[in-house]
Amino acid sequence: MSLKLGTIAPDFTQNSTIGALNLYEYLGDSWGILFSHPADFTPVCTTELGTVAKYLPEFKQRNVKVLALSVDSVHSHQEWVGDINSSQNTSVNYPIIADEDQTVAELYGMLHPESDTTLTVRSVFIIDPNKKVRLTLTYPASAGRNFDELLRVIDSLQLTEYEKVATPANWTPGQRVVIVPSVTNEEANAKYPQGFETIKPYLRLVELTE
Ligand code: BEZ
Repeated sequence: MSLKLGTIAPDFTQNSTIGALNLYEYLGDSWGILFSHPADFTPVCTTELGTVAKYLPEFKQRNVKVLALSVDSVHSHQEWVGDINSSQNTSVNYPIIADEDQTVAELYGMLHPESDTTLTVRSVFIIDPNKKVRLTLTYPASAGRNFDELLRVIDSLQLTEYEKVATPANWTPGQRVVIVPSVTNEEANAKYPQGFETIKPYLRLVELTE
């Protein structure tokens, strides 16, 4: 069973490279990103975990705590981290869960037996400070994820949390956003003195000012 958006992310305590890790304690009041990968010592996963290590300041800047997972052991993770660090020229400094008994993988629907009976697929869960699941994503083992896209969607989630706006296709921070249909033109005029463009009555674009 996969988790639905808006549901509460199940809590768990599991072994990790920083010892026993409780999800809710680890996240505290932060946002979180939990991502699974198929297996240690595999090429695509090596590039993914190295990339996340390099992007860690970007996640921190957005108040997002990072957590990786596979069904391999802590010992295996630790040995593999050495490989990731040397081959990707980085330093993996976020925890990797060792979900050997597949508790978390089952809880979060990371096992797709029709795809592979034992490996976790490339799942991503973005969790907000209220522990709600705000994004789920599933990639096949053969395709490494785009972590720029994950930062982009975090920016969108965090922006639209506080403003009655949504972000259009391929939006990046700084570009115009969509005024949601529940906002009347009167309200929009009052809220956006800088003006907005009405392309269709239901498609209004505004440039946000600081
Ligand atoms: C990889 O990370 O390279 C990988 C893992 C499982 C299957 C295929 C590729």
